Amino acid sequence: MKNRTGTAGTPRIRPRTVVLAVAAGAALLASTALIAPAANAAASTLRAAAAQSGRYFGAAANSFQLSNTSFTTILNREFNSIVAENEMKWDATEPQQNTFNFTGGDRLVAHARANGMSVRGHTLVWHAQQPGWAQNLSGSALRNAMVNHINRVAGHFRGQIHSWDVVNEAFADGGSGGRRDSNLQRTGNDWIEVAFRTARAADPNARLCYNDYNTDGINAKSTGIYNMVRDFKSRGVPIDCVGFQSHLGTTLASDYQANLQRFADLGVDVQITELDVAEGANQASIYERVTRACLAVARCTGITTWGVWDAASWRSDNPLLFDRNGNKKAAYNSVLNALNSVSGPTPPPTTTAPPPVTSTPPPGGGACSASVSLNSWNGGFVATVRVTAGNAAIRGWTVRIALPGGTAVTGTWNAQASGSSGTVNFSNVSYNGQISAGGNTEFGFQGTGSGPSGTPTCTAS
Ligand code: G3I
Repeated sequence: MKNRTGTAGTPRIRPRTVVLAVAAGAALLASTALIAPAANAAASTLRAAAAQSGRYFGAAANSFQLSNTSFTTILNREFNSIVAENEMKWDATEPQQNTFNFTGGDRLVAHARANGMSVRGHTLVWHAQQPGWAQNLSGSALRNAMVNHINRVAGHFRGQIHSWDVVNEAFADGGSGGRRDSNLQRTGNDWIEVAFRTARAADPNARLCYNDYNTDGINAKSTGIYNMVRDFKSRGVPIDCVGFQSHLGTTLASDYQANLQRFADLGVDVQITELDVAEGANQASIYERVTRACLAVARCTGITTWGVWDAASWRSDNPLLFDRNGNKKAAYNSVLNALNSVSGPTPPPTTTAPPPVTSTPPPGGGACSASVSLNSWNGGFVATVRVTAGNAAIRGWTVRIALPGGTAVTGTWNAQASGSSGTVNFSNVSYNGQISAGGNTEFGFQGTGSGPSGTPTCTAS
């Protein structure tokens, strides 16, 4: 039976690896059956317990830790998802402009594949951990660098990432509910939607998440994010999930679950992405309550702890599930028991990924029209183009747009461009060519210089 993780596109493992994983699983099941034939026995690892309801249980890791067999013994036994703690960030992947380094990320992905794990991608764009060259950019130069970075990094890992943290920590702390000031924010308020549109085109099958901290309840910051997600969903900006980092202290907001649920009700998945909890009397109980909250929200698809054991945490207050010697803590048992308490699988989430192309396309022959809306700044622009079918359905479309002299297209999403200057033909991609009579779809492109001013022409097939 296809479980939720599979529905969301994980694990994206090559067929050969799947065969090996299935074979290994079958051998394990066979040997377990000889010893413990009891039905409905509680699962004995986090990954198996989470899988009972179709969820994943993951951990942040660094590639150098994969050389430590004590570490990998726990990682491989307990977790079925990995996220790079640092090695997919902008400073790690593009240390010099347009020079990319995927060594650490590739190693983590290979380890995941070999051990039947999925991979969360963290993170394409963030105001922190930018390489020095990006910190020194602004305006359209930074915007173009961001688009190029997303295209190259998401493109490199295309098909291998379950969910990408496309944008990380873009909202301000405190009571404003607004955006955080940053060099990215100063390129224009639309930078987040441009990042999501670019990521969708670069890796159409990855779930695209917004990720942040201090969002562990209904508060001004989480409400600001909620409003952004609601706006994105209403305008068709591609967003599939929201990550709640959940770096927690000694208390947990009483409306933690209600907050997850209100986001899920917007039509996005929610994920606990960086869970760690201050040591002390409440640690085990907070871990348990977070786990139960996720289990109670059908669209909460998985939990990730920000590390495996206390020895390697970014925090000094022993916030993880395994102690410095790799022993299970009370918090581990509380999470495992909570995961095992689920009586049956919860319903799979509704996918918001582009629908697959149907095998029997509708009849074509209709006409189409196109209109452009522009968001311009000094030296650059983002164009959103709406393609509308006439009185009959269409199977494909091409929009012809004349660009002013000196203007260059630097990135396109949801369409294929024939060139980057002069008169450019934008054609549909696999998932948005078919439009029903009177229906519409949108694509976009970004460029340097000034945006198009004439009326585009649309040709349908
Ligand atoms: O790689 C360099 C190394 O070459 C250099 O010698 C050393 C000197 O300080 O620094 C190393 O880089 C460090 C990097 O981790 C890799 O170890 C950085 O200084 C250090 O700041 C960085 O800390 C990471 C931090 O994000 C900043 O990127 C933490 O490990 C990581 O746990 C933390 O994770 C963040 C999430 O990405 C976002 N949410 C919050 C979370 C906790 O802060």
